[in-house]
Amino acid sequence: METIRNQTEPLKTSQYIHTMERLLHVVQELSAARDQETVMDIVRHSVRDLTGSDGATFVLRDHDFCYYAEEDSISPLWKGNRFPMQICISGWVMLNKTPAIIDDIYSDPRIPIDIYRKTYVKSLAMVPIKTNDPIGAIGCYWAQKQHVTPEQLKVLQVLADTAAIAMDNIHYQSIIAAKAKQLEDAIDGTLMAIANMVEQKDLYTAGHQRRVAQIGLAIAQELGLSRECCEKVFRAGVVHDIGKIGIPSELLAKPAKLTEIEYALIKTHSEAGYTILKNVPLLSEIAQIILQHHERYNGSGYPQGLKRDEILLEAQILAVADVFESMISHRPYRPALGIDAAMDELIQNRGILYHPDIVDAMIHLVIHKGYEIPE
Ligand SMILES: [Fe+2]
Repeated sequence: METIRNQTEPLKTSQYIHTMERLLHVVQELSAARDQETVMDIVRHSVRDLTGSDGATFVLRDHDFCYYAEEDSISPLWKGNRFPMQICISGWVMLNKTPAIIDDIYSDPRIPIDIYRKTYVKSLAMVPIKTNDPIGAIGCYWAQKQHVTPEQLKVLQVLADTAAIAMDNIHYQSIIAAKAKQLEDAIDGTLMAIANMVEQKDLYTAGHQRRVAQIGLAIAQELGLSRECCEKVFRAGVVHDIGKIGIPSELLAKPAKLTEIEYALIKTHSEAGYTILKNVPLLSEIAQIILQHHERYNGSGYPQGLKRDEILLEAQILAVADVFESMISHRPYRPALGIDAAMDELIQNRGILYHPDIVDAMIHLVIHKGYEIPE
């Protein structure tokens, strides 16, 4: 006849402190978890560790079934199996919203004994995850009959409650991430629509903005800039000439050199672009980049004559991408000048008109990395 291990003695102080420290560590780990698999992994390891059990399981409610999603056990139990809520103890725990402590599984009518007979399990404790509206359960199993102590049950419930909070956090984070993605898609869609509007008006701008955006992005990536910075370069690039919408089409397509007055009018486009976008929520930074895309490193650009670090890095990247793309493309007043001429322009004015690091990145892309110019 088996003896029942009695663990009703209060935990000794040192053991209690160790358990609390370990529990605190697990709570911290759970609060940092970013996906459900990590939550389950942390829980299944810590349950055995903190309760001294021989097996731990993580069960998820799947409609009318209990899905035994994870386990950590001296020998396999039910990982990957589904059982109807009505016949398994985790189902009972979830339906009754209360823990189950079973010192002897062979004398408890809630246990489907045929399923347990082939396992080592003699005693178990199971607690619901989210007591008010259970979404699952966490359980531990022992190979010897024993009384589960109030401390063990408390630890198990703290783990379940913390797991519930962690799973809620993950759920809300996924909703926020999906909303952020929707917002980003909306921004990109809006920018593309704006770009198309300008390009409808000016045949020579058609494709130019997109290509400048792509070249700018390649430079930003070559410079090792952050994802956020790269996105700003690309987005600003897509609409950098939006201000041309206010300039007469005949002027934009004039097949001859512009007069001084005409050129002065063309030069208003960076400020006009800024004015169009500066008050659009989430696009104010893009507006600033557009405002500065014709500024030059030595202060000879427009509209403000900014120089060096006064000019946003993203705007300086677009300046190089813009000049490069313009020179290799046909214009109403001249044929394409070619890549060699574009490279010469950048090299000759490296550190004069253009930021030296950005020129170096462009040269490295074209000469050493075989960068293919976007069509
Ligand atoms: Fe421009």
